[in-house]
Amino acid sequence: MYYSALLGSPVDHSVSPILFSLLARIAGIEYAHIKIDTPDKKLHEYLTELSNLGFRGVNITIPYKLRVGEYVNTVSAEAEKIGAINTIVFEPNNWVGYNTDAIGALYALEKQVRPLSNADHALILGAGGAARAIIYELLKKDISCVVLNRTLERAQKLKSDFKTQLLMVDELSDNALFSYARDASLICQTTSVGMEPNTQISLIKHEIMQRIPEIENKIFFDMILNPAKTKFLLDAENSGAQTCSGLYMMIYQCIEAFNLWTGIDLSKSCATELYDELINQM
Ligand code: ATR
Repeated sequence: MYYSALLGSPVDHSVSPILFSLLARIAGIEYAHIKIDTPDKKLHEYLTELSNLGFRGVNITIPYKLRVGEYVNTVSAEAEKIGAINTIVFEPNNWVGYNTDAIGALYALEKQVRPLSNADHALILGAGGAARAIIYELLKKDISCVVLNRTLERAQKLKSDFKTQLLMVDELSDNALFSYARDASLICQTTSVGMEPNTQISLIKHEIMQRIPEIENKIFFDMILNPAKTKFLLDAENSGAQTCSGLYMMIYQCIEAFNLWTGIDLSKSCATELYDELINQM
């Protein structure tokens, strides 16, 4: 029997227990994944208890992806670079922190839409932890990235952390959105704008979306998973663009975490089936 958990606050609306039970069914193993609303002061205590109980590991969500770093013994190279941990593996006397959001986002794009290459140009909206995760994977592929953020200083900090000429930053505005979107082949929405319950808003206004030339050749990716199709994605789809939902990112992220905890590398081809099952149950 395998056990894992999700620690964060709030966790009420997470569909990860459903997803892990589907993964366990495909893998043919007995498995339980529980979500635990974790008060700030209890984070370390809960981690210790779960580790002692024989849990394989935990996923970490808002607001602990940065802070949990102080409790792990080892940090993977990508989690170090991104500056956030979303998965911990409890090895004997060694808690190892990983970031599977990054590879989850890349797999979502490459398996659900198309492979990416250094001929692509990315526009990233937002400069938080989610942005850092996808930027990490894109830069590994030598894909140039423009980051637009409401707070320019935060984007500048991100640029100085990544230290590469492939990364440019600017302040978020309608003009900047239009001109950088025109030149991008991939547009990644990493902010919380459009998330449940504020599903009627999008960072890219409808009229700007409609003016973006050759939109049918562009990919629009939203890292929000609830709703699975945000206004940003629906507007892009209605304008003829290719789109990818953040729900796929979550699915691939969980497949990676499942592999880290169980050693079972599930075929990525189950993602579409999992997506449909989750949509039915959400
Ligand atoms: P996460 O780890 O999920 O990325 P985060 O680190 O809090 O979360 O980052 C949230 C991102 O969404 C930031 O880029 C934030 O912009 P600021 O740096 O200016 O705060 C962006 N964001 C949140 N609400 C926004 C809004 N209403 N308009 C534009 N950007 C917004």
